[in-house]
Amino acid sequence: MTATHPTSGVAVDPEPIDPRLAARAKAITERELKAYSVRTEGSQRATQRARTVMPLGVPSSFQAYDPHPIVVKHAAGSRMVDVDGNEYIDYDMGFGALFAGHMHPAVRAAVQAQLEDGTLYVTPCEMNAEVAELLRDRYRLPMWRFTNSGTEATMDAIRLARGFTGRNRIVKVEGGYHGHHDEVMISMKPPLELAGPADAPLSVPGTEGIAPDVVAGTVVIPYNDLAALERVLASGDIACFIVEPVMENIGICLPDDGYLQGVRTLTTQYGALLIFDEVKTGITAGMGGATGHFGVEPDLVTLAKSIGGGFPVGAFGGKQEVMDLITAGRVLHLGTYNGNPLVMAATKATLAEACAAGPTAEAIARNERLVAACQKVIDAAGLPAHTVTFGAKGCVTWKRDRVRNYRDYKTGYLDLAFAQWIHGINRGVMLPPGLDEQWLVSVMHEESDAMRYADVFAEFAAELTT
Ligand SMILES: Cc1ncc(COP(=O)(O)O)c(C=O)c1O
Repeated sequence: MTATHPTSGVAVDPEPIDPRLAARAKAITERELKAYSVRTEGSQRATQRARTVMPLGVPSSFQAYDPHPIVVKHAAGSRMVDVDGNEYIDYDMGFGALFAGHMHPAVRAAVQAQLEDGTLYVTPCEMNAEVAELLRDRYRLPMWRFTNSGTEATMDAIRLARGFTGRNRIVKVEGGYHGHHDEVMISMKPPLELAGPADAPLSVPGTEGIAPDVVAGTVVIPYNDLAALERVLASGDIACFIVEPVMENIGICLPDDGYLQGVRTLTTQYGALLIFDEVKTGITAGMGGATGHFGVEPDLVTLAKSIGGGFPVGAFGGKQEVMDLITAGRVLHLGTYNGNPLVMAATKATLAEACAAGPTAEAIARNERLVAACQKVIDAAGLPAHTVTFGAKGCVTWKRDRVRNYRDYKTGYLDLAFAQWIHGINRGVMLPPGLDEQWLVSVMHEESDAMRYADVFAEFAAELTT
């Protein structure tokens, strides 16, 4: 079985591997796929039905995978139960959105209380400023606005950057995902045969339907490459560089020492704004996000996912002089549901209670123990893999060397990753297949929940190598 990325449809070719490992991984995959079909018959039926009324049978193409996705009926804390009654420990946690866990008691109480007072005013509520203050204190950026998703947050931040600089073109990283608006749906996971040279990648549309001038307006560079950034910025017409401080859509890809500081220096030097897209890192990285962790101040930060405690919220925050463009009416920022009181109640409870400093530190420490346990398994079995960690997230990367950018990621052992995934999901370890995602230890994962991943991984390693 070859997994494909849902939005690009590109098959990922793994590096050649030890033939014995490859043969064992194939045998495990075949056996586990059969077991999966038997234990997820209800999910299969539900998906078949859904495919008659929804493309791929899912509400977002990211949710589709072969042979069919798990269809879920119930979630609470760190667990989910599917329509067949199978229980999973959820390590995906809504692509990292559920740092608070599924329906944290504080979030539930806040949302229930708010239901008594209504769900949508389209005029401000006091919680708007309260939540903005909480974000200001964490991210040390003075001004904030709310959106309904990460996509809207990055779209609005880019528009602000264009308004502020009076420039049009933007720069993003190859392999980076920033949501599903046109100007960033470029080179998310481009097929290498279209992607051009590694140090000067081409801009490859990630979907049909994007106008050529939009594609031309987004310049793509490799992550962790300051020389490539400087070459592009030197053109003088770049409005912004939008980048995840830590890339979290190709496993976890960390910045080289000094990379983010270099990015800050260069963007300032060439008059482009720096947007840190923290939709995925967010508050899972610690109280001040990745921004606070690395101590590099961007001009704008985009957030979503983890700040909302499972509710659809996004936000962008920025320096006073940049956000003043909205105040002056030069850049419009709009949205019927922006800052609606239901979602604000969930966000406030998440930031102020569920994911306050204490629970955040505990989840990060628990994740460190999980990562260490997995690395021990890798070392003992001599697997061609390594662990990577950031904040409360971690991953097993099926590749011996560190991944520094998208091209490195493309050389990972996808077949081994798939075998681990299908083995794990049949034992109650819930993650999407492939090499893209990472696990999240939420504030509701107890020690034994977190460590279950390492136990199942150890079983898999033993089967793969003995
Ligand atoms: C880094 C990053 N930015 C933006 C987005 C878009 O967020 P949303 O799916 O809420 O629109 C995502 C979604 O995965 C993301 O990973």
